[in-house]
Amino acid sequence: MTMTLAFDVYGTLIDTHGLVSQLQELTGNQAKEFSQTWRDKQLEYSFRRGLMQNYENFTVCTSHALDYTCEYYKIPLSGNQKQHLLNAYLTLPAFTEVKPALAELKANNFRLFAFSNGSTAAVDRLLVTAGIREYFIGIVSVDDIKSFKPNPAVYSYFLRQSGACCGDAWLISSNPFDVIGAISAGMRAAWLHRSQDTIYDPWGIEPTLIVESLRDLNEQLSGFR
Ligand code: 2OP
Repeated sequence: MTMTLAFDVYGTLIDTHGLVSQLQELTGNQAKEFSQTWRDKQLEYSFRRGLMQNYENFTVCTSHALDYTCEYYKIPLSGNQKQHLLNAYLTLPAFTEVKPALAELKANNFRLFAFSNGSTAAVDRLLVTAGIREYFIGIVSVDDIKSFKPNPAVYSYFLRQSGACCGDAWLISSNPFDVIGAISAGMRAAWLHRSQDTIYDPWGIEPTLIVESLRDLNEQLSGFR
């Protein structure tokens, strides 16, 4: 059976904390916390905009979240400093195991897509910069339907765009809210448990599969073929 894999991008393929060393220059020893608050707020803003049906793209959520985070930590960055960080966000690095893992999956005839809150242009740039664009058949962005994960409409949109059926389509994500959203919308989902600090929400909506590295996906998914 041909299986279609929808890879979440931020946090799964791409390291959203890849700017910590740059942040250290600006925020000193608060860099790690600053990075975490920035990411948490970015997601919260996307959830709220989705619910409010007041859509602005993910880059806007990222920018507003940066403004919030500067206020929260009382770190008054200049407009130029913020712009510099936002530009760097467009070329965040991939996690180290991503490239060989994608190459192995593609060689084994899985159909790979990137599926993200980010706009197609932003995701395309990230994947090209990370040297992994070639592994994907396409990019499916929520931006096309002006909503965000975990609205069930965005998972349905993925199925329509990729031409996959619920039973053959897997979300691969390190973000528990995304995994729960996909399962709830009828897809299968693998939770990438990258960090032991990440807690899976105890809602009783479990991942189809849990892996600790993308390296394990090929073998684990083969059991479902
Ligand atoms: C993404 O859609 C949820 O940030 C995550 O790429």
